[in-house]
Amino acid sequence: MTRKAILVARHIFPEVRERLAQHFDVEANQEPVDWPRDELIRRMQGKAGALVSSTEPLDAGLVAACPTLRALCSMAVGYNNIDVAACTASGIVVTNAPDVLTETTADFGFGLMMATARRIAEGERFLRSGRWQRWAYDMLVGADVHGATLGILGMGRIGQAIARRGALGFGMPVIYHNRSRLAPELEAPLAARWVSKVDLLRQADHLVIVVPYSSASHHAIGAPELALMKPSATLTNIARGGVVDDAALAQALAERRIAAAGLDVFEGEPQVHPALLDLPNVVLTPHIASATAATRLRMARLAADNLIAVLGGKPPLTPVHA
Ligand code: 8YV
Repeated sequence: MTRKAILVARHIFPEVRERLAQHFDVEANQEPVDWPRDELIRRMQGKAGALVSSTEPLDAGLVAACPTLRALCSMAVGYNNIDVAACTASGIVVTNAPDVLTETTADFGFGLMMATARRIAEGERFLRSGRWQRWAYDMLVGADVHGATLGILGMGRIGQAIARRGALGFGMPVIYHNRSRLAPELEAPLAARWVSKVDLLRQADHLVIVVPYSSASHHAIGAPELALMKPSATLTNIARGGVVDDAALAQALAERRIAAAGLDVFEGEPQVHPALLDLPNVVLTPHIASATAATRLRMARLAADNLIAVLGGKPPLTPVHA
């Protein structure tokens, strides 16, 4: 039987490539570079499947240009880069990588929120630049995390994992807004309260954004929403660029209409809105919330396992649907 051909669109763990090579003829991106769209399409043509991430635009045009594709398996949990409806219409199974990154990403989200509230990155820049001359009662004073109200926009797996950290570890009252309320047995141990989006914005001391990106969540946080927040509040975005209007956020931070922000994701990343780069009260990280060696390996293995299952005629482990 002839082996199916697949594409590994990203530079990934050699052991995952080797596992795939036991099943398929593998063409793999061996360099830490993004292939331009035309090259990605050219390389995907004739392939039965591809291992991808969240950064390649896998749109209807690509789907139409690659009629042999049967599986697109992403090592990311977010799949807003994939036109799932176009894939489904063309008989392509799409999978993502949920669960394996939940705790790691929640660790980072909580850490970024703490760094933001307690001005850790700003303090480090202050020290390194030689500005630390003496103790002062108001030097780099920030906001408490323990006991403060934690607001979560998007209460999926990662949102709940952040809520656990806040409620159980830091004694934070948790409020959240989500399309649907959590089941009472999930809310109760965290004493988490569903509130309207307006109340979430008004009441949160530390707001963490974990909602997936879609046309419905585009600029879910813009100037009108920022205007509702407390001037002492912080905002942390580990969801996707585009959920927050970065230009409006930069302006709110510059005018101290909110105290600080922590951002791991950006509109148009890896470009970052220039106004954000100049502000002291924002902690900026390069989309690394899931970046531990163990978790990235789990993500890549899950994507590979999905490819092996689907192209082997078995059900996908973690399918996504339009
Ligand atoms: C990835 C992510 O690192 O899983 C996601 O949705 O945003 C991150 O965990 C990134 O998308 C690489 O694919």
